[in-house]
Amino acid sequence: MKKKHDLIVVLDFGAQYSMLIARRVRECNVYCELKSYDTSVEELKKIDAKGIILSGGPSSVYDEGAPRPDPKLWESGIPILGICYGTQLLAKELGGKVEKGKKHEYGKAKLEIEDQTDLFAGLPKEIQCWMSHGDHVTKLPPGFKIEAVTENCATAAVGSKEKKIFGVQFHPEVAHTPQGLDIIKNFLFVVCQVQPTWTTESFIEYSIDKVQREVGKEKVLVALSGGVDSTTVAILANKAIGDQLTCMFIDQGFMRKNEAKKITELFRKYYKINLIHVDASKKFFAKLKGITDPEEKRKIIGTEFIRTFEEEANKLGEIPFLGQGTLYPDVIESAVKTPAKGYHSKAAARIKTHHNVGGLPEDMRFKLIEPLRKLFKDEVRNLGRGLGIPEEIISRQPFPGPGLAIRIIGEVTPERVKILQEVDDIIATEIKEAGFYKKLWQSFGVLLPIRTVGVMGDKRTYLNTVALRCVTSSDAMTADWAKLPYELLEKISSRIVNEIPEVNRVVYDISSKPPSTIEWE
Ligand code: XMP
Repeated sequence: MKKKHDLIVVLDFGAQYSMLIARRVRECNVYCELKSYDTSVEELKKIDAKGIILSGGPSSVYDEGAPRPDPKLWESGIPILGICYGTQLLAKELGGKVEKGKKHEYGKAKLEIEDQTDLFAGLPKEIQCWMSHGDHVTKLPPGFKIEAVTENCATAAVGSKEKKIFGVQFHPEVAHTPQGLDIIKNFLFVVCQVQPTWTTESFIEYSIDKVQREVGKEKVLVALSGGVDSTTVAILANKAIGDQLTCMFIDQGFMRKNEAKKITELFRKYYKINLIHVDASKKFFAKLKGITDPEEKRKIIGTEFIRTFEEEANKLGEIPFLGQGTLYPDVIESAVKTPAKGYHSKAAARIKTHHNVGGLPEDMRFKLIEPLRKLFKDEVRNLGRGLGIPEEIISRQPFPGPGLAIRIIGEVTPERVKILQEVDDIIATEIKEAGFYKKLWQSFGVLLPIRTVGVMGDKRTYLNTVALRCVTSSDAMTADWAKLPYELLEKISSRIVNEIPEVNRVVYDISSKPPSTIEWE
């Protein structure tokens, strides 16, 4: 890192909210990393952690094998904030007592603040907080005092000014604790006294510097998908290493309407980046002829993508580096060991074969550069904005690697793609116009393999059916179908059937995930 930023570490004890804590810290412009709960004090000192947050977790401190940090942590002198399980842990290990609550306390509670310094500096006497715990601290460790209470918890916040160790039983990181961010800020700026230097400008600078250092005078290839991650990697690499960069955009034939054109224009005209546009659509359509099984489709598209990429990359001669848009959550998923989750991503059952642009084979000869691997998605968006990438790309809804092909149920043909492109364009336009685009996780059409009878003018029709799929979600792991206004649904439906001659019926998908998935295939 060129400029050194103060570092806060979240030790992950398996809480559902660990990543959120790290994001909140970064929202305060302080650099934060998530590490395994058993990271040694030696390591924490080596990376110069200025403060440590112990996350919550599903265990009880009295469980056999309950996860514990390095026992030397408490005497390390690094300021500590425990959250929920983290608080119980520090209380028990420092000589206090933790007991099982009679019942699990879960939900909103009124927090009465007794000490308006340190963690609660500048906050009113009473705030709302979000509780979710079974055990609680019943005897304070020596040198500790109570900082805040709730009706059901006499030790809602505890702390020792001398040791700079504090613990809260509630969750300051969630939105249900409206002033939670102020509490986190107090830990950062009052207790740890770190500097808020982690800004958009600084992570642009950091990322450019990282690319330059890793790449030197060598060449880099970036595969573009049109999404925010790969576009940001490309524009960043362009800023960092200029024409040592080549971008490749493989058009499989299942992009959205005019998308290929927009991408090539942006890169060639606006950024003047060396872009190779590979129109591989004929090949992809030929491979998918007669294929209707969703998994088979996904596999064919994935394999064909890799093959095309390799063929085209070979034509370019020696390029040692491949730039990829890997983000911090992906890195954490596979690298941070947590007691509850283990290395969970690998163990998850395969629901669908995912194909990402850049999801390239492991045995490839490229060395990877992943300049976004320390960033969260919202930081990537800010980085992209800082680099001047158009808002249309920055705030684009997720779009699957296999594109419209997995939204065409049954055989994928150029004719059917064309129909769905028109449908998709109408949906996107109307959803944007109505101000729902950013509120929805995704909104798109699915072309069904059935025709139904309709009447237009005085004539019978026998045409295609389209399903409209609009969902809200925060991470795509779960999703709700969106309760859109009837007027908007009506407008989308009537535009589709009036403007697209191949379609005479539109239905709305009212299933949530689980048990359904967001995409239909
Ligand atoms: P499902 O359909 O599994 O989708 O609920 C969850 C999210 O993942 C996206 N998705 C993909 N993204 N490559 C991707 O990059 C894929 O193969 C793929 N399949 C699904 C989907 O759009 C949703 O946001």
